[in-house]
Amino acid sequence: MSRIVIVSNRLPITIKKTAENELIYYPSAGGLATGLNSLDESLDKIWIGWPGQEITDEWERESIRQDLSNRGLAPVFLTRQDIILYYEGFSNKTLWPHFHYFTQYTDYNDATWESYQNVNQKFADVINPLIKPDDLVWVHDYQLILLPAMIRAVHPNVSIGFFLHIPFPSYEIFRILPWREALLDGVLGADLIGFHTFDYMRHFLSAAYRVSGYEHNFGKLNVGNRVVNVDVFPMGIDYEKYAFPDKDENSADDTSFIEKLALHQRILLSIDRLDYTKGIPQRIKAYSQFLENHPEYHRKVCMVMIVVPSRDQVDQYQELKHQVDELCGIVNSTYGGFDWTPMRYLYRSVNFRELTTLYRLSEVAMITPIRDGMNLVAKEYVASKEENKKGVLVLSEMAGAANELLEAILINPMDVNDMEKAIVTALDMSEEEQALRLDKMQKKLKKYDVKHWANTFMNEQIRLTNARKESQTNVLNEEEETSLIAAYRQAQNRLIVLDYDGTLMNFHVDPQAVVPDEMLIDILTRIKKYGR
Ligand code: UDP
Ligand code: G6P
Repeated sequence: MSRIVIVSNRLPITIKKTAENELIYYPSAGGLATGLNSLDESLDKIWIGWPGQEITDEWERESIRQDLSNRGLAPVFLTRQDIILYYEGFSNKTLWPHFHYFTQYTDYNDATWESYQNVNQKFADVINPLIKPDDLVWVHDYQLILLPAMIRAVHPNVSIGFFLHIPFPSYEIFRILPWREALLDGVLGADLIGFHTFDYMRHFLSAAYRVSGYEHNFGKLNVGNRVVNVDVFPMGIDYEKYAFPDKDENSADDTSFIEKLALHQRILLSIDRLDYTKGIPQRIKAYSQFLENHPEYHRKVCMVMIVVPSRDQVDQYQELKHQVDELCGIVNSTYGGFDWTPMRYLYRSVNFRELTTLYRLSEVAMITPIRDGMNLVAKEYVASKEENKKGVLVLSEMAGAANELLEAILINPMDVNDMEKAIVTALDMSEEEQALRLDKMQKKLKKYDVKHWANTFMNEQIRLTNARKESQTNVLNEEEETSLIAAYRQAQNRLIVLDYDGTLMNFHVDPQAVVPDEMLIDILTRIKKYGR
């Protein structure tokens, strides 16, 4: 089995420095980190990425390298400038909004683009010396789109996979980016490119053709003398982890407050990173409208809203924080009383025990992003209902997960009336129907879990690498060459079959433009001479 080299911008561990300069290690938030962190322990793998904090002191860097290496991780250190321009800048002010169709937020900035190229190269400079010929390199997400080509330039034969965890937008959106060709050239350095849904793949193939002229045949593109495969791999979760969480009674993590709350009120759950793609304000508005139109539910329901801090140095995230604070305040002050708080809003991350207790005890989960590559929270919620089979998922049509979780109540996140209706339907749903819907979704999630996702992707990578090796040119040895030439000379009639496009001359967007060059004409002339 080959070694797997995982590369992502963020490692599954984020380092934070306290005011006293102490380094604290936290689990990273977000689907990429939580999902990939659930891969099989037995796999031979290293994971390379940014530890989430600017570290300048070389002694401190070395101590982090040591700590992380014990966990199979290797850091790429970024400077303050890199963080501002590459991470907060091009990654999260340009690519993130643009790929999620928030083009009004897209920042067109040459300085951040330059930094994006430099930091992708910085990753390549760390990774390239570590790569061994039989490694499977697996690059993740929008922060590292240029990296596959940068690795390919140094390791022409190594197996490289790329997976995009966010949507790939339609060609009409993608084409607006001034750096569209360079982005495609970068990612096409991979052998295998994966997306969560068929639509994202379709958009990518359309962009590859219309921007760069690469036609595809069942997802296969000829790029120079290589074949690049594009396919769909919907990411799953570690099903058992959420279905049967460890209920250690002696755990220091106290969840009794959540349990008490659930005894008296029906919990509607909302959990996301603070992100404008998640539709948090629209969700609060729908809940507020529901409270306005359905006083019979007052004092009986409570929305628990966990908002996990994210990218808080980016303007739009700061603005969103103010908006969410204000909207939650309005709901509580309008409908709440001394005996009832309609919204419990926390701006922090929760630990695993709190998370799974919330999943287990919430009657409804409102997962209503405006755009989301996949959304693992929706899948985790469904899995956590394995034992009690009670709970309703209200899910946005715009989340990648909606392609699989068809038994959820699917809503349009911009349609507040639709969401209000969905809340009522969810709260009124019979237990039989809840169990029926959950059961169908759970069967799928159990089968297509995160291990299945990773194995399918990597097996495909291995298959492609083997196929490439098999189709590599077999160079004639001296003996074979001599006998071939002798047979050729003796032959009375000769049939010479030569493939032109892609063999004698490289492929070109316009086949008519490929004329034989001098070297080719010389070779053909010499073949003719041999016959005499
Ligand atoms: N999560 C977390 N800390 C929290 C709450 C949630 O790490 O306080 C996890 C959650 O379990 C899920 C991930 O963060 O695995 C969120 O992934 P998702 O795909 O839903 O959204 P993303 O944040 O990647 O956009
Ligand atoms: C999404 C992205 C990930 C990212 C995560 C958290 O899931 O697809 O690449 O790691 O959000 O965002 P952050 O900016 O904190 O890494």
